[in-house]
Amino acid sequence: MSKHIVVIPGDGIGAEITAEALRVSQAAAEKCGFSFTYESKQAGGAAIDAYGVPLPEDTIEACRKADGVLLGAVGGPKWDNVAPELRAEKAILGLRKTLGLYANLRPIKVFPALAAQSPLKPELVRDVDILIVRELNGGIYYGDRQEAVTVKGIEQAWDKEGYSRPEIERIVRLACRSAIGRKGRVTSVDKANVLATSRLWRKVAAEVAVDFAQVEMSHMYVDNCAMQLVLNPGSFDVLVTGNLFGDILSDEAAVLSGSIGLLPSASLGDGTGLYEPIHGSAPDIAGQGLANPLGTILSAAMMFRFSLGNEKVAAMIEAAVDQVLSDGYRTADIYQQGQGLTKVSTEEMGQQVINRLK
Ligand SMILES: NC(=O)c1ccc[n+]([C@@H]2O[C@H](COP(=O)([O-])OP(=O)(O)OC[C@H]3O[C@@H](n4cnc5c(N)ncnc54)[C@H](O)[C@@H]3O)[C@@H](O)[C@H]2O)c1
Repeated sequence: MSKHIVVIPGDGIGAEITAEALRVSQAAAEKCGFSFTYESKQAGGAAIDAYGVPLPEDTIEACRKADGVLLGAVGGPKWDNVAPELRAEKAILGLRKTLGLYANLRPIKVFPALAAQSPLKPELVRDVDILIVRELNGGIYYGDRQEAVTVKGIEQAWDKEGYSRPEIERIVRLACRSAIGRKGRVTSVDKANVLATSRLWRKVAAEVAVDFAQVEMSHMYVDNCAMQLVLNPGSFDVLVTGNLFGDILSDEAAVLSGSIGLLPSASLGDGTGLYEPIHGSAPDIAGQGLANPLGTILSAAMMFRFSLGNEKVAAMIEAAVDQVLSDGYRTADIYQQGQGLTKVSTEEMGQQVINRLK
């Protein structure tokens, strides 16, 4: 049966980057004898302009029925002053909630051809290939909170962190499954020396690991992990952690690659998956052909792997991206003068990837 996807360009550079990801997806699928259908829907600022809300019902319904959703990015200065519940970014939170997306997968790879552009020394980042698996639907971001109140003359506020065994089990299982076929190592990150939730996390993670004989599980405190990501990033394979720690560590790790425009992500639940680059809508460069589409193209590859069940198309796209970078093609964000590189536009980069699909 043919698979169906929803493409949400969103705002800013969203239309340019999703157009290239779609073109590459169609070309790769065709080469592999695979077919899929797609429809475009609106979310974010574009949806506020058209429907008055950031995530219209029509978009939600289409996403629920689809096998995968490919999203560009949402938001921009035009919608910065709307009411908080109407903010463009609410579209992402709404999609995560509606689709029950509890896991965020962020692969952090340093392409050998770009190692010199990392803020760390090339020899430290050359082997970096980390998959960060972040719990997305629980923890302190979803716990009870008390906004600032004054009690006995002292202003105070609190947020509650909570995790249940099933929430921890499903994310750690996903991390362990993801490690198979990689180096087979999972680092579970917590703060078990201080936090009760982390002690439960560590206990459950260790129990889950027993079911995965091929996987070697270790545990690391989050402060040490933040340090090791800079000192020895090549030592990690799969890293699994809760919502708050994952948010911070995944942004820290993202800078290793040298450009935010290169990194893909997948958000998974039990049904439709959501795939998007990790960057925002980059309003400063929108409409100028300057955006790097590779993060979105690699997000589409993840969609083929996790939601469309076609590893061959995923691997073909990833290999073509590797080759384009080795061949010296660069969008403005990763271009350096005087090194024999070829500067290309968003569309030309998409075409160069297509030319190398095999
Ligand atoms: N998931 C999302 O949709 C998402 C995520 C983050 C931010 N946002 C929104 O995006 C808007 C802009 O946010 P921001 O400026 O803080 O972050 P941003 O990621 O959009 O841009 C940060 C910097 O990186 C550059 N950049 C980003 N993506 C690039 C690409 N593909 N190629 C080349 N350069 C790229 C931009 O030009 C900018 O200089 C805001 O409205 C923000 O709320 C959306």
